[in-house]
Amino acid sequence: MHNLDVWLDALPSGTSLVGETQKMVLNTNWKLPVENVCGDGYHLGWAHAGAMMAVQPMDLSGLSVGNSSANLEGGLSVAGLNGHMALTSLDGVSGYAFYPDPKPMLDYLEANRPTAIERLGKARGEQLWGSQINITIFPNLQFLPGLNWFRVYHPKGPGQIEQWTWAMVENEMPEEIRATILDNQCLTFGLAGLFDNDDGDNLAACTEQSRGWRTSQMDVYTNMALGRSGAREGFPGDIAAGLVSEHNQRYFYRRWQEHMQASSWSDVPAYNLNSLASREAVDA
Ligand SMILES: [Fe+2]
Repeated sequence: MHNLDVWLDALPSGTSLVGETQKMVLNTNWKLPVENVCGDGYHLGWAHAGAMMAVQPMDLSGLSVGNSSANLEGGLSVAGLNGHMALTSLDGVSGYAFYPDPKPMLDYLEANRPTAIERLGKARGEQLWGSQINITIFPNLQFLPGLNWFRVYHPKGPGQIEQWTWAMVENEMPEEIRATILDNQCLTFGLAGLFDNDDGDNLAACTEQSRGWRTSQMDVYTNMALGRSGAREGFPGDIAAGLVSEHNQRYFYRRWQEHMQASSWSDVPAYNLNSLASREAVDA
């Protein structure tokens, strides 16, 4: 709830999903889109360079092609052993980095920042509310405050999903901003969205290539930033610095493996995230 409240409870009037339910069938294994979003940062510049040039007026922690200037202090990868995760920048405004004209949203953030700080505290109210955040509720629900979409993946078999997406707004937002958010969600992550079609092509290609005789004998490589995580004051979970790593992906696949290996629901282990906060470092 610590991170969910940044979106769900920053302001007293709460949040809503708006627009139609956007349904799309994709020929991909269901785990790939979840993996893709829970550790969104490192594929951003590579997969979406064209889309970013078209819509991005603000810098997002140096996340361009090559990631050579990514600022490791500009974000956090936050994971827990129950498989829920957050990937968040810390500037309090970059959620609107992919809006052609972010000014109305930035003015809204500035006007309501004191209330958000009062309700969430300084760290979350100043650094997280308004930031680009990817939230994953294991196994198949994800939402992105800032880009403002909310999504559920329905598996349709080993190689197909039906993806349901909505735009989401804070109820405090004026009608003009709500309309802008719905437009921008359709532009970026709607059925014909610039970013979503980049991702969809990649997810389908990864699924198809993984069926190959040689490829299917190889292990998945998710070792980026391995062993560089630990506790951070004020935030629960096991935390790696920066948006560019495979920290969250490891937690996602570990949790999936635990479910696959359990013989019944009661054999699936439950973890207390807060116990991680007292440890100096956690071997990921
Ligand atoms: Fe993407």
